[in-house]
Amino acid sequence: MLVDELDAKFIINTYGRRKGHTLFLVKGEGVHVWDDEGRRYIDFVGGLAVNILGHCHPAVVEAVCSQVRELSHVSNLYYTRPQAELARVLVENSACDQVFFANSGAEANEAAIKLARIYHRGGRYRIITAGNSFHGRTLATVTATGQEKYQRGFAPLPEGFLHARFNDLASFEELVDDETAAIMVEPVQGEGGIYVAEEAFIRGLRELCDRSGALLIFDEVQCGMGRTGKLWAYEHWGVEPDLFTVAKGLGGGLPIGVMLARSEVARAFQPGNHASTFGGNPVVCRAAQAVLKIILEKPFLDEVWRKSELFMSGLQSLAAAFPGLVEETRGLGMMAAMELQKPLAAEAQESCLEKGLLVNAIGERILRFLPPLTAAEADLEEALAIIRETLAALP
Ligand SMILES: Cc1ncc(COP(=O)(O)O)c(C=O)c1O
Repeated sequence: MLVDELDAKFIINTYGRRKGHTLFLVKGEGVHVWDDEGRRYIDFVGGLAVNILGHCHPAVVEAVCSQVRELSHVSNLYYTRPQAELARVLVENSACDQVFFANSGAEANEAAIKLARIYHRGGRYRIITAGNSFHGRTLATVTATGQEKYQRGFAPLPEGFLHARFNDLASFEELVDDETAAIMVEPVQGEGGIYVAEEAFIRGLRELCDRSGALLIFDEVQCGMGRTGKLWAYEHWGVEPDLFTVAKGLGGGLPIGVMLARSEVARAFQPGNHASTFGGNPVVCRAAQAVLKIILEKPFLDEVWRKSELFMSGLQSLAAAFPGLVEETRGLGMMAAMELQKPLAAEAQESCLEKGLLVNAIGERILRFLPPLTAAEADLEEALAIIRETLAALP
């Protein structure tokens, strides 16, 4: 059977993959992926912000292969060095003191929500998040997500989640009370369409939490791991969270999620309060160590920032060249969007694909670009040329 036939028959259709429309990818290397007919694409979808070192980075491949030969999995009842060492690197390079390992962004956020509630010992339970946010698809995280379309059909949703408006501090102030356990936001909203938090907003949230006794949680699942040109996006504003979550890019293509917390908060989790069979798996932790080693080596992140400025200014030039088509471009580091004036994002995505560039359409008007942090200037320029051609051909 062909892969599209197998998919249609045996896989529940949650992704809307369609015979004759969906790419069949068979190989990846660096910024490129190849389809089953040998066509090569520049991949600016990157597993939706996962492949930060591109595909099959040799350091990740080596780390995974050597670990899988030695010890591929044991229970969390026992110690393993990859888990302990990864925790150390994460803590030594962040505002937090201890970690909990999970397997995905949603699981990391679940852990953060549970920890925030148990920290307040049941006294405070409400979590306030932002409209247009995205925090995952489990019942709690989809309820935290400030987009109704993801919640439809799943009632009753867990209690205690409220939504304020992103970049509108007053809307959070209105909702905070003595039952607020935490405020949770993405410093840069990803799935919502790449909206960057304003400094006054992020600082204001920190002050609001300090005043009210609520915890501040940053969801850095998409914007963390160097994506914005700094290891953690919150470093752009110098504002530190009480907890934050990381996933996507951390495993270099392998599934991992982490919740990090300040020690005073972390202590609220006692043995038996939370667990994950695969969380902190040695193979995945070795992959993550390899990724972090590369990202933390100077001048890797300075280079990411420099290249991202080139890419952003390239997008801005395109916006200026096509004033009747492009509403605006926005982003931070290698997390960029182009908003179109008309609902042509799907058409633009398709046209880029035909020209050898994978980008992601969000809704009807937004194109999202998530280049690997390792993309060379030439790759970014090639992508910009394809986007230009695409814009030129749009109606
Ligand atoms: C900010 C943010 N949080 C959480 C998630 C959920 O992550 P996962 O799909 O790994 O559960 C995502 C996924 O897109 C995300 O962008």
